[in-house]
Amino acid sequence: MSQLDPPNANAEVSALLEENRIFHCSNEFKSHAVVKNADIYQSARENRENFWAECANKLEWFQKWNKVLEWKPPYAKWFIGGKLNASYNCLDRHIKAPLRNKAALIWEGEPGDQRTLTYWDLYREVNKLANAIKSLGVKKGDRVAIYMPMIPEAVIAMLACARIGAIHTVVFGGFSAEALKDRILDAQANLLITADGGYRRGNVIALKNTANNALKDCPCIKNVIVVKRTNTNVDFQPGRDHWYHEITKSVADYCEPEPMDSEDILYILYTSGTTGKPKGVIHTTGGYMTAVTLTTHWVFDLKPEDVFWCTADVGWVTGHSYIVYGPLSNGATQVIYEGSPDWPERNRFWKIIAKYGVSIFYTAPTAIRAFMKWGTDWPEGCDLSSLRLLGSVGEPINPEAWIWYHKYIGREKCPVVDTWWQTETGSILIAPLPALIGQKPGSATKPLPGIEAKILTENGTEIKEGGGYLALTSPWPSMLRGIYGDAQRFEETYWNKWPNGIYFTGDGAKLDADGYFWLLGRVDDVINVAGHRIGTMEIESALVDHPAVAEAAVVGIADEIKGQAIAAFVTLKEGNTSDKKMEDTLKQHVVEKIGSIARPSKILFTADLPKTRSGKIMRRLLRDVGEGRALGDVTTLADSSVVETLKKKYEKET
Ligand code: WTA
Repeated sequence: MSQLDPPNANAEVSALLEENRIFHCSNEFKSHAVVKNADIYQSARENRENFWAECANKLEWFQKWNKVLEWKPPYAKWFIGGKLNASYNCLDRHIKAPLRNKAALIWEGEPGDQRTLTYWDLYREVNKLANAIKSLGVKKGDRVAIYMPMIPEAVIAMLACARIGAIHTVVFGGFSAEALKDRILDAQANLLITADGGYRRGNVIALKNTANNALKDCPCIKNVIVVKRTNTNVDFQPGRDHWYHEITKSVADYCEPEPMDSEDILYILYTSGTTGKPKGVIHTTGGYMTAVTLTTHWVFDLKPEDVFWCTADVGWVTGHSYIVYGPLSNGATQVIYEGSPDWPERNRFWKIIAKYGVSIFYTAPTAIRAFMKWGTDWPEGCDLSSLRLLGSVGEPINPEAWIWYHKYIGREKCPVVDTWWQTETGSILIAPLPALIGQKPGSATKPLPGIEAKILTENGTEIKEGGGYLALTSPWPSMLRGIYGDAQRFEETYWNKWPNGIYFTGDGAKLDADGYFWLLGRVDDVINVAGHRIGTMEIESALVDHPAVAEAAVVGIADEIKGQAIAAFVTLKEGNTSDKKMEDTLKQHVVEKIGSIARPSKILFTADLPKTRSGKIMRRLLRDVGEGRALGDVTTLADSSVVETLKKKYEKET
């Protein structure tokens, strides 16, 4: 067995990994590919700034930059002096061209309703909303929170903010009132754009009511714009709340796009880190737009005739970069779907692909593993022949899932691009250019042209073959520019592990003899549940917030579908009973504090947690317990019997 085999690899997949099989695209694919000349890797390496400047030239700038890069680690500035507008690049330049009436968004709601917006339609809507937002007194640099279901207005809201230079911060619609409140307060947003509700698995998710709860403690919010989606009864606060359809009725059709400095902030997006408080990752305009435009075009081999479908939610960075800014800047036609893949049946995605002739499909390994479990009858019953390229993002894809995706969804004809990147990186950094880099199932392959990634040891020595920490060793245009309001955390989290401006990704990875990168997951206290990042500390804070809890430790344990699941070890205060009812109460408490994505799948009550003599909780041992493994080294524990007792108890309960 190869070293890289996952423990659950079946015989077919093991054999394939053993022979180090590389999947190449067909000659037909290659002859039409967007990038066919491998020299691009070398030329980008030789003159990285020149490479990125040429990419930036593909955007329309109101004013050209006078310097490509200023790098004072860890602070980078790209395309200094340049002026542009993201919404202008996504809309105005297309409506001046033959794309004017091309479909931009083909949207399907979960109940089956459908809307298609051409570039012209989208342009009109964005302009009107931009004027409406302006009429509420929102100005360039102000923060606007967006809390929406997956409906076209979510995209419109983001672009309307970008048009007037307001900074959007999108909060995933599955987050709780408390999580929404924390983000609004951290960003000090003055406007919230939301909807009455959205549909998920046949239910209405009452977003406005959740937002109302959040807003009780958000004095900074002066106005709320509400899209009518589900006709749910909502409490309206006169003066503060406005219906979207009313406020956009009597405004002008055109709003001048604000010329933004290349380094002006486009958005803030909160993501989990290793402390209890989420980080507001800052992205600016010129470098970000350059990199998302390029990577959408190159990695997905995007052509004008393609129908692109990224299944992410706009609440995550994948939705920002590969639903909104990357595809629209390229003039792509996209499908957006509001709901769940198994509603009303487990073939909803495949039906959508067949219905709209989707040619490029981008989803997450957790979804692929669920499809595998549901069986091949579902995709086999639908015509998937329009597909020509598949993508994966969000977590390591296990070789089995890769092979299944390639075989049953791609009919062994579609290249599969496994794309590694992060909220912080803004755009895809490690992925194949499909016509140039053959794919190995389970490997994100190689850094893209213009990107420099290495595997380093703890003390910064480069590993040419083998495992270590994934590091980015030179700046790239879409890199985060900071953490909103917390420069110190920015420096400590990403830049202090090694000297000289080397970025620490928080991921472990291996490099094989062919120079392929194999991502191994997080090495910090962040877990990746179904492709969503959640900090263990965040969940621990939510648990100890409950009056019955004395102490809590949370770890990620392997899960067949979600990649990782959340296991919580909880010590209760005296006088509380550790029963099923308490378990449910605590799970619900976490859902209320953060959202259902953070619901622990297991809670184990324990009188003590395994700690070192200095009082540090040994999570490694908790992971051993949670995954049913033999216990690792216990010699540093203050009391080694604690973990033995825990293990016995856990084995009995599972
Ligand atoms: C993980 C999502 C392996 C990784 C775009 C990273 C991946 C974190 C991959 C970022 C991949 C993302 N292979 N792991 N192709 N893509 N990850 O910020 O651990 O939500 O650090 O960005 O997801 O998650 P985030």
